[in-house]
Amino acid sequence: MSLENPFQDPLRFERRIPECTVVIFGANGDLTKRKLLPALYRLAYERRLSSGFAVLGVSRTPMTDDEFREKMCESVAKYLEDSPFDKEVWSGFARSLYYMAGDISDPQAFLNLAARVKQVDDERQTGGNVLFYLSTQPSQYGAAAKGIGGAGLANSKGWRRIVIEKPFGHDLASARELSEKLHEVFRESDVYRIDHYLGKETVQNILAFRFGNGIFEPLWNRRYVNSVQITAAESIGVEGRGAYYQEAGALRDMIQNHLLQIMATIAMEPSATFQPDAVRDERAKLLRTIRILKPSEVLENSVPGQYGPARIGGADVPGFRQEPGVDAQARTDTYAAATFFVDNWRWAGVPFYIRTGKRLPKRVTEIAIQFNSAPHAVFGEHGDETTPNLLILRIQPEEGISLRFLSKRPGAGMKLRPVSMDFNYGSSFGERSPTAYETLLLDAMIGDATLYTRQDMVEASWAVVEPILGVWQEQKFDFPNYAAGTWGPKEADEMLARHGHAWRRP
Ligand code: BG6
Repeated sequence: MSLENPFQDPLRFERRIPECTVVIFGANGDLTKRKLLPALYRLAYERRLSSGFAVLGVSRTPMTDDEFREKMCESVAKYLEDSPFDKEVWSGFARSLYYMAGDISDPQAFLNLAARVKQVDDERQTGGNVLFYLSTQPSQYGAAAKGIGGAGLANSKGWRRIVIEKPFGHDLASARELSEKLHEVFRESDVYRIDHYLGKETVQNILAFRFGNGIFEPLWNRRYVNSVQITAAESIGVEGRGAYYQEAGALRDMIQNHLLQIMATIAMEPSATFQPDAVRDERAKLLRTIRILKPSEVLENSVPGQYGPARIGGADVPGFRQEPGVDAQARTDTYAAATFFVDNWRWAGVPFYIRTGKRLPKRVTEIAIQFNSAPHAVFGEHGDETTPNLLILRIQPEEGISLRFLSKRPGAGMKLRPVSMDFNYGSSFGERSPTAYETLLLDAMIGDATLYTRQDMVEASWAVVEPILGVWQEQKFDFPNYAAGTWGPKEADEMLARHGHAWRRP
């Protein structure tokens, strides 16, 4: 193997976590219980954490360190996905957990926090390094950054980084405003905007697949690719998040971030190295090349949907407007589909169809790349040359990659039929993949921002979705327009039919 292989970057391979304290704001919340603590516990289980490691949980509820440990123990045991809960590992890990009550809107709380961080640092020898993780309401991000800065917590000895969860604003202007607030205290290079899709093994594997192999990249352009479909379907509804979701909607919740990031990963140019900013520059460049729809083009190239009630498998499923916390007249999109074009040399004229929705028939996230058909029908009516070659990258579940091509049916004559060549993650590697949060927390502690989104990427994605949001807002769509448990509104099928395409049924 060549020494110049860009994947041979020590930053990506030497994954030793330095000493640090992770301060989690919103330590009593759902994300901490379900994702953050189970991920940190897993890193402890894998012996990835340094001995100088601590977690300091902060939220408004008064609790002692021991009560916090107890609570987290229950959650970790409950939410660990596909891995064992080891009591011995836990008891060592639990000693690194601390807690303090504090209100983000109270400047005194940050002075108390500074004292507590110092105490934990002395006790656990965390090298003065602090990773702040904001697992709070986004409306509190500005105040949290200000409090951290005001108490001198952003620039003491050691490194300081801040992780924030989406949404990064609700449009371009508010995303910029949020960045400005964060930049009053943190440098952009210390701001880690998390997009958990980028942490998924299968999304990272897109880069390995494209740039670690010689045979696919020559085909990866407008000469051979006919169209690309990116689907993120969920069978669940809004799961008690009605109030948040009502304001967000599917376009903001999934396309603005996760799916445009996937599209960027599929369509970006290879970076010369695997350094964080080299990769992120290419992603950002791609996002900036997506054609921005004019208001007059929006309705032809995008489709919103909202699910209505249905009876599925003998049970009544409520429509979105009947979900708790949702307005009976809500105009929220629980489904969104759009056609995008990338205005560059590689992709000119190739449509990228993106769709996502709640209460669709199944949970599946995949990218399907359709290649051009054979240029000449050698086998005439016996062939099935209308079935194009398809490369499917399955992000979840049943993670893997399939290539569909035509094969001769056994027997006399030359009759063809599509068959598929499959790679399956689970059976090929036979080992557990880390969860997205394990990967991303580890990266943030190491200081590797490759899989985090940067301000310019967030802004470029808002610029893409904003005209769609603007036009949708002014329309009175006839919602609900798809029944729970179906593949979305018929207008989404019509959108593809106008280009001579059809959605895959994954
Ligand atoms: C979140 C969205 O970012 O991603 C949710 O806010 C969505 O609405 C979730 O359900 C999907 O993530 P995953 O990893 O389950 O595909």
